Amino acid sequence: MNRVCGILGITKPVVQAPMTWITSPELAAAVSNARGLGVLGFNAGFETGKATPEETAEEMRKVIRKTKELTDRPFGMNVMTSAFDGAGFSKATIEVCKGEGVKVLVAIGALDTEQIKEWKDAGFKVIYRDMYPTVASAKAAEEAGVDVIVATGCDEGGGMPVEATGTMVKTALMADAVSIPVLAAGGIVNEAMAKASACVGAEGAYAGTRFVLSKECRAAQATKDDILNTGADDLIVLTEADGYVKWRCTPHKVAKEAVEQNNQGNMKPSTGSFYHGMLKGDLEAGINTVSSAASLIRSIDSCEDIVNELARGYGC
Ligand SMILES: Cc1cc2nc3c(=O)[nH]c(=O)nc-3n(C[C@H](O)[C@H](O)[C@H](O)COP(=O)(O)O)c2cc1C
Repeated sequence: MNRVCGILGITKPVVQAPMTWITSPELAAAVSNARGLGVLGFNAGFETGKATPEETAEEMRKVIRKTKELTDRPFGMNVMTSAFDGAGFSKATIEVCKGEGVKVLVAIGALDTEQIKEWKDAGFKVIYRDMYPTVASAKAAEEAGVDVIVATGCDEGGGMPVEATGTMVKTALMADAVSIPVLAAGGIVNEAMAKASACVGAEGAYAGTRFVLSKECRAAQATKDDILNTGADDLIVLTEADGYVKWRCTPHKVAKEAVEQNNQGNMKPSTGSFYHGMLKGDLEAGINTVSSAASLIRSIDSCEDIVNELARGYGC
């Protein structure tokens, strides 16, 4: 049996990666019902941002309950590790996850060994994605008791690792270094890319961009059309947060202006918000960030079709 499936209680080794604002109970449940793992991201299903950890956690409780109405299969929750969770938003959400029976935490942020142990003791399966992945961090995660790790290459949509290693090499390096299963993240948009990642050691996909272009994703139609209509050579990359974050975006106002700012030496330009650019489809007000392989996606499909297609790449 595929090890990712065995650990996560699924039959198709496809994890729908968390994406702020644009995931929802409908998306996560559709992926889980297709026998992959749906994941609720930050602000999943929210109409507005919440100011406090408590308000966020209570809103997330409603979202989790709605997801449970739509599927009786396992799904995951995106959380930040302690180092990235100063205000305690994830801490509060994890308490709700415990009470609501969420089975899987999908964690980002610097590794906290004690925290991983606590999560494991509480019965969670832990998928860990270091946003700046190295072989050393993969080994440390394995030692800390993480169940599955994610090898993210700079082909990914969202905040890319600033180090310029692509997904296939990153996956090969991490799979070679650890004995726990590795999921490939970044550019896994079709069966061929899934198969390529399997060839270098991935045991499953961790896919974001492909699920933006799913029928069940709540991203605006204008956002989806924009991705379908943008050619591979038209995507632009901007740098934010003094070089700690990079985004690959479709070429619109906010992204173009940020690149101009970068060229003038400002590495902290404004990037608007995914709320506008992706959820609401106001492409002049926020960035629309995608994988370098986004133009290989030809149509908007159901989550079931996407899960089945990507899973074939892993022989499932
Ligand atoms: C629009 C968008 C938003 C994202 N937001 C988050 C997030 O909030 N948390 C997170 O852990 N990763 C986030 N990511 C990264 C994804 O979880 C995942 O690593 C990435 O999408 C994989 O690469 P792919 O888009 O090429 O499939 C985001 C990605 C995208 C495309």
